[in-house]
Amino acid sequence: LRDKYIDLIANAGDEASLEDLRVQAVGKKGEISLKMRELGKMTPEERQIMGPKLNALKDEINTALSAKKEALADAALNERLKSEWLDVTLPARDARVGTIHPVSQVIEEVTTIFADMGFSVAEGPQIDTDFYNFDALNIPGHHPARAEMDTFYMHRAEGDNRPPHVLRTHTSPVQIRHMEKHGAPCRIIAPGRVYRADYDQTHTPMFHQVEGLAIDKDISMANLKWVLEEFFAAFFEVKGIKTRFRASHFPFTEPSAEVDIQCSWEDGQLKIGEGDGWLEVLGSGMVHPKVLQAAGVNPDEWQGFAFGMGIDRIAMLKYGIPDLRAFFDSDLRWLRHYGFAS
Ligand code: PHE
Repeated sequence: LRDKYIDLIANAGDEASLEDLRVQAVGKKGEISLKMRELGKMTPEERQIMGPKLNALKDEINTALSAKKEALADAALNERLKSEWLDVTLPARDARVGTIHPVSQVIEEVTTIFADMGFSVAEGPQIDTDFYNFDALNIPGHHPARAEMDTFYMHRAEGDNRPPHVLRTHTSPVQIRHMEKHGAPCRIIAPGRVYRADYDQTHTPMFHQVEGLAIDKDISMANLKWVLEEFFAAFFEVKGIKTRFRASHFPFTEPSAEVDIQCSWEDGQLKIGEGDGWLEVLGSGMVHPKVLQAAGVNPDEWQGFAFGMGIDRIAMLKYGIPDLRAFFDSDLRWLRHYGFAS
């Protein structure tokens, strides 16, 4: 019996079969346990000989079992250490870090340049009332500019009598909100999202503008021209970049001008700040007296300029990005290519 179990234990392959052996030998109904129960039927003399023998056997088997158990556990650990071996001297894998979106980058650049000229940043809601988006900007209900802007109107349930809301079609409502709250004088830019129902290679239903507004006692178009030329020179990194002011019309400025920047277009290469071509980049003008009035600023006392510029557009020009729609596709390959290190 002893040799049988010592042999079986030595050859047990894993902890489960070792446990089976334990039950078989010294478990409640195990072979050795049954033999010990038979001691009761023996004569005292027989019992005196067999008793210690069986006890010793039981001890020996138990010792062999636990020694084997430990050996098996050691072997298993060694096996694991071998398979989970790690070379800490290998170079680390590159961490994938996100990039700054060109729009965020350009807003940052624009904000910094205007901050150097004393402009601070103002914000307004993207969902605004048609009062702020239109009426206060001298665009009354019947005005064709409303239709031209391809406005998104917010749905109102029947009986909901709150004023009509729109997705702002430009950043100009921020002019009104800012002057209402802070009055004159002021110098602000207001970058942000705007919305128009339009979609092609150069139009997306959501895009970005930056509004500019400077109100003081004697601000003129000459100040506007200086500020813009200063801005374009810094933004496109071209000293002495030329601008062209074309007479235009906006209901909220009088006089109004569309502003072009100098460019050349040779061998399919667009270069900003040289040559005799022109690219339109913004709308501007002297703030209309009615607009000042609507915002609670006295037009007999104050005057100033405003402009609205397409952020995505100047981002495309500066960084040579061909298709506006790709800006908002969230394609990781595009973002890695055109994005900026953070
Ligand atoms: N709000 C005009 C637009 O979206 C731009 C503009 C702003 C023009 C301020 C004049 C003054 O086209």
